[in-house]
Amino acid sequence: SPYRVAVLVGSLRKASFNRKLALALAQLAPAELKLEIVEIGQLPFYNEDEAAEPPATWIEFRNAIKAADAVLFVSPEYNRSIPGALKNALDVGSRPYGHNAFDGKPSAVITLSPGALGGFGAHHHLRQVLACLNAPVLPSPEVYLGGAGEMFKDDGSLAKPETEAFLRKVMTAFAAWVQKLKG
Ligand code: FNR
Repeated sequence: SPYRVAVLVGSLRKASFNRKLALALAQLAPAELKLEIVEIGQLPFYNEDEAAEPPATWIEFRNAIKAADAVLFVSPEYNRSIPGALKNALDVGSRPYGHNAFDGKPSAVITLSPGALGGFGAHHHLRQVLACLNAPVLPSPEVYLGGAGEMFKDDGSLAKPETEAFLRKVMTAFAAWVQKLKG
């Protein structure tokens, strides 16, 4: 059976380019990977005062990550860093101490921005957090995608064959990474 990949989208807006990309990736990923978006917008801000009686949404989120074989991050950059909603999801999933849901999960990071830098700042801040969480990140190919505004056709498919070919290569590399770490 295919590896289950939890996809965390760093944008909450309905028309998000990153959400479109996540859905496109689910279509073009190899058969070894089954991608499913795990929502993060409903998670209350992490507050240690609520750790003893955590909100149900925190528990559901942690369980969804634990049930996945791997995690794929598809995110924009906010002010050269990780969008707050995504950082919150990482914090929620990392607790309680000793029960980090991301521990040992093979991961991959894709950043997508309308600008030319492709979310480079957010991308590497995310890698920094994932090192802390002991989630081994696919080293390469590195995926910094610019030009989000021109990336999709109206039906949500990728406009350029070369982008699609590159992303197929990325997802194949990710499948090999998951296989290597999960056996
Ligand atoms: C942005 N945007 C942005 N873009 C970028 O390339 N570097 C940045 O540092 C920022 N900073 C930033 C801060 C905040 C608060 C917002 C709301 C936006 C623009 C951002 O990339 C753009 O809105 C994307 O369309 C967001 O991704 P989604 O929502 O389309 O997936």
